Amino acid sequence: PLIAVLNGPNLNMLGLRQPDVYGRATLDDVEQICIQAAERLDVAIDFRQTNGEGELVSWVQECRNRARGIVINPAAYGHTSIALLDALLAVDLPVIEVHISNIHRREEFRHHTYCSRAAAGVICGLGVRGYALALQAMTDMILDEDD
Ligand code: DQA
Repeated sequence: PLIAVLNGPNLNMLGLRQPDVYGRATLDDVEQICIQAAERLDVAIDFRQTNGEGELVSWVQECRNRARGIVINPAAYGHTSIALLDALLAVDLPVIEVHISNIHRREEFRHHTYCSRAAAGVICGLGVRGYALALQAMTDMILDEDD
């Protein structure tokens, strides 16, 4: 099965960007973590990042009939984008939302995410290891669906 791992705006700056908040791992490191988790779990992944809201919406739409699930770090668009929420609802796939930082201990405007309404679950505050945890949970969910 194919799991899409989609990353939103400014995540291309990981490692450089507020390392006190997001850590020192780069987006390439995150991709490596996901590739290794996928090998272990025997699933395929399509790992992508974009700064564009419209592009993220299009990628979510493309997952329909192609992927079995979506792991998404929507970054700031999680807090702002009803379009992204609507796309996630439209594809009718299991969604797991990931945030590297603990959004609930940060500014009030980060506490709410529209995406969460479409998500089976949310992982936040566990750093980049949250991606591997999300892939593990998504694989379990797909196997359960197949039973
Ligand atoms: C983030 C948290 C968001 O609030 C922020 O806008 C990001 C990254 C995280 O992974 O912790 O860009 O999604």
